[in-house]
Amino acid sequence: MKRVLKAHINPSILNANFDDLENEILKISQVSDSLHLDIMDNLFVPNFTFDLQKATQIITYTPIPVDSHLMIENPDLLAPKYAEAGSDSVTFHLEAAKDVRATIKDIRSNGSKVGIAIKPKTDLDSVAPYLSEIDMLLVMTVEPGFGGQSFMSDQMSKVEAARVAINSLSSPEILLQVDGGISDATIGIAAKAGADCFVAGSAVYKAEDPAMMVTKLRSLANAEFI
Ligand code: DX5
Ligand code: ZN
Repeated sequence: MKRVLKAHINPSILNANFDDLENEILKISQVSDSLHLDIMDNLFVPNFTFDLQKATQIITYTPIPVDSHLMIENPDLLAPKYAEAGSDSVTFHLEAAKDVRATIKDIRSNGSKVGIAIKPKTDLDSVAPYLSEIDMLLVMTVEPGFGGQSFMSDQMSKVEAARVAINSLSSPEILLQVDGGISDATIGIAAKAGADCFVAGSAVYKAEDPAMMVTKLRSLANAEFI
């Protein structure tokens, strides 16, 4: 079966202590695949996190790859700047992009891998034409904007269909990421449906030992791959 054999766990710092981010990141960096950096502009979503300057600082001191998730208007103009800032991957929302192909190209030419995210009400069909051109598809399992929301299990049929679509590509190395409400109670459901890259915010940072939770989440997901 065309699957990566290891689950990627990317903790989100959205619910970490913003006053001590550098140390919060160090708590998980030894055991995590990437750091998931949620960028919100208070326009695409009703919340604000970091601007480009602050994101650049975070990317600079983070010792592991940074997976930037842009929940912003006008990614066509701004996404390449997050690539230039040193993100390992830049994921933009299909719903916000004016020229999807040009944005993919501009992110890549600025040195990052490319992800496309879709909100819960967006069909898989609308992203299907771009699958062979990207490195990661993000199927949101909450409405973007806030951490700590409940996992939307009704998105699993979309994850299953996305897994089929990815496996039918000639180069099926694309990661299938889920983001929102991932915890030790839900990660197995998403892994079984076909996800292989998991963002977890509150589950990790509310745990007594964040690193131990990352390791636990990975083994719960990996158990579904066999
Ligand atoms: C939601 C963000 C998520 C969020 C996940 O808009 O994109 O990355 O931080 O947080 P939890 O795991 O708490 O749902
Ligand atoms: Zn996110």
